Amino acid sequence: MNVLILGSGAREHALAWACAKSPLIGNLFVAPGNPGCATVAQTVPLSLADSTKVIAFCRAESIDLVVVGPEGPLVSGLADDLAAADISCFGPTREAAKLEGSKGYAKDFCREFGIPTGAYRRFREPNEAKEHIRSLGVPIVVKADGLAAGKGVVVANTLEEAEGAVDTFLSAGMPIVVEEFHEGEEVSFFALCDGVTAIPFASAQDHKRVGDGDTGPNTGGMGAYSPPPLMTPELTQRVMREVIAPTLRGMNERGSPFRGVLFAGLMVDVHGPKVIEFNVRFGDPEAEVILPRLKDDLLPLLVACVNGTLSGEPPRFYSDAALVVVMAARGYPGEPVRGSRINGIEDAEAAPGVVVFHGGTREVDGAIFADGGRVLAITALGSNVAEAQRRAYGAVDRIKWPEGFCRRDIGWRAIGRESE
Ligand code: AMP
Ligand code: GLY
Repeated sequence: MNVLILGSGAREHALAWACAKSPLIGNLFVAPGNPGCATVAQTVPLSLADSTKVIAFCRAESIDLVVVGPEGPLVSGLADDLAAADISCFGPTREAAKLEGSKGYAKDFCREFGIPTGAYRRFREPNEAKEHIRSLGVPIVVKADGLAAGKGVVVANTLEEAEGAVDTFLSAGMPIVVEEFHEGEEVSFFALCDGVTAIPFASAQDHKRVGDGDTGPNTGGMGAYSPPPLMTPELTQRVMREVIAPTLRGMNERGSPFRGVLFAGLMVDVHGPKVIEFNVRFGDPEAEVILPRLKDDLLPLLVACVNGTLSGEPPRFYSDAALVVVMAARGYPGEPVRGSRINGIEDAEAAPGVVVFHGGTREVDGAIFADGGRVLAITALGSNVAEAQRRAYGAVDRIKWPEGFCRRDIGWRAIGRESE
């Protein structure tokens, strides 16, 4: 099979790494990719926004499957364009991608189909929104109703903060959703879907805040581990029954069957799971801990989602835990400082059970330079989260990059549970 993966982050490197191991793989391409992807696949300078060029490339290279990494092209309808050109694509249509592309759509959808989620209201008018916020009090959550790369959510602890968020989003032309605040523990839950059938894939816990102890602004994710001890088989069954199955049924009823990976961002408390958000793609950094644990071949699973032939059998995973530490360039999640030299990647990769995935890197004459916010994702496997953490930070410490930083406490919650 000839496969084209679209995207350029550590998630796409992990997808390429997993596809490259498949006995079914023929030619493997990543567009635009990064220097890490180039070690397992051929990278191609294609713009994801240009579906005509993507289609022409697929025809020229006899691509059997396109795997879309990020949400942007899905929300813009790339899967529809590929389908119209008779090219198989892993990832939902524009209509089904609204589950991620519009928080208002997702909330209304949950309400209609009885999927557990927090109380909310949608607003376009600032004074109405502020009045509503004042009547509820804080903490409260204000969300922009559109793709905002992780920057469209404000968890406000003061009225000033909440009202500031209302003004920021509405004046940028984005309608808003005001949502009740939930206490609990967050889990990223992934299910593979072929439009009719869904099977649980895996789950992970992300660390969204930039600083140790979950402090500072939200990011795309600074580290993760899998499996989360919180996610028992019983809870998995409950999420499948209460969240994933009704989502598949609802999307079918709306005439937009969901094919691809459905990523439910859940808040779990004593009452059970509530949907915080839906995403329509693999998570980053979640993919970097889930894919190294996958025992089965990834490619037939992706193909089954596209062809509508997913069986009820969940895929098999190694019992090892995986933990990933993201190294980011100074300035992230604001404007990152680009262009600093990174040494020691090979040394880090030589550590036992370690894989280094590239995000925003650039190669010049064999040397690697930072070229984005989240730059490297260092994954380690271990017999439990504590061992995976030790190995991951051991590898991080071999990387010589004074202009980079990472959190030093990835996995703290699970390690606390392991030592109970
Ligand atoms: P989202 O992009 O919707 O996942 O929101 C980003 C982050 O904001 C989530 O990962 C949570 O940490 C937090 N968040 C979102 N909605 C809520 C909520 N209703 N209650 C508490 N925290 C939330
Ligand atoms: N790590 C969260 C996300 O991929 O959206």
